[in-house]
Amino acid sequence: MRMCFALAKRGKGKVAPNPLVGCVVLDKHGNIVSKGYHKKYGKNHAERDALLKLKNNEAEGGTIYVNLEPCSHFGKTPPCVDLVIEHKPKRVVIGMKDVNPKVNGIAKLKEAKIQVDFVLSDEAEFLNRVFIKNMTQKLPYVVLKTASTLDGKIATSSGDSKWITSAQARAEVYRMRKEFDCILTSSNTVITDNPTMEHRFKCVLDTNMRTNKNAKIFQQGNIYVATKENTPVKNGRLDIRAVLSELYNRGVYSVFVECGGTLAGSILKEGLADEVYQFIAPKLLNDNNGLSCFNGDNVSKISDCIKLDIYEYKKIGADMLLKMRLLQK
Ligand SMILES: NC(=O)c1ccc[n+]([C@@H]2O[C@H](COP(=O)([O-])OP(=O)(O)OC[C@H]3O[C@@H](n4cnc5c(N)ncnc54)[C@H](OP(=O)(O)O)[C@@H]3O)[C@@H](O)[C@H]2O)c1
Repeated sequence: MRMCFALAKRGKGKVAPNPLVGCVVLDKHGNIVSKGYHKKYGKNHAERDALLKLKNNEAEGGTIYVNLEPCSHFGKTPPCVDLVIEHKPKRVVIGMKDVNPKVNGIAKLKEAKIQVDFVLSDEAEFLNRVFIKNMTQKLPYVVLKTASTLDGKIATSSGDSKWITSAQARAEVYRMRKEFDCILTSSNTVITDNPTMEHRFKCVLDTNMRTNKNAKIFQQGNIYVATKENTPVKNGRLDIRAVLSELYNRGVYSVFVECGGTLAGSILKEGLADEVYQFIAPKLLNDNNGLSCFNGDNVSKISDCIKLDIYEYKKIGADMLLKMRLLQK
């Protein structure tokens, strides 16, 4: 199954809105006879890619590993489960059940008297976390990026913010942006920092169109500006869920948020963030008036903290990068 995960990851950035899927075929003696993965949206699914490479039917009586339940419906390609059944394996080992309600591959395998087992389901779900969010909530997957001092500050009280983290950390941010379909930022950040945030698609939340049309962000890439004219307003602020839903309808499946503490705080409060990528510089501002990276309000109990799980950490230049998933409350 871990081999399936590694194969699946080769499709990163090329298969959305489809899931990342890899497949490994073993013959009846347990030898690996074929491997495949979903390479590109609209192209063969992993099982088809692997099974079509077989010369004789070496899969008969063998085992097929695949990290996602085989599909059972006609989409851009015919149902994989039919091809799997035609190859008469004894057993199919699956990572996770498909969250797409159209898919019913497991029942079809069982009807065909093929043994179905599950392994490493948590890892399989983590691998396809973007697909799961897209499919179940019809919203893009949201990662909040922030770069702060050790005491969680992103600027001094006078607004000075350049540079908190090292050149290496900033280069890592440029690289990361490419993994997402869209960068989301705010009027305040555009006005204060005048960043380009180079990307093919960017979204700026700008309720009253306060940003200057000559700002660098508007000189590159496609831009969607969410304003009170095109977006519902909730408690006096743009409804972020409505913005994300609009982005999803425009084919945005993942969003990288680069903003200050006000917007980051709102996104967290609304429960719309899936992950936080936090760059931490080994610096202490040690000033209560500095701007914080997350500006929520009035939490009186530590037990009400938003809880996260660190799934990756690394040192980049002088700084630390923590990648964290939001845990359900
Ligand atoms: N270190 C980092 O990682 C990093 C990254 C980016 C920015 N920054 C720093 O962040 C600072 C700006 O922070 P900030 O807190 O003033 O601004 P912010 O969080 O970037 O943006 C807040 C603004 O977004 C708009 N907005 C629209 N809908 C909203 C909603 N539902 N909830 C919250 N905001 C909404 C509002 O402006 P409108 O009313 O105009 O729509 C609001 O004032 C700058 O100093 C910048 O340097 C740091």
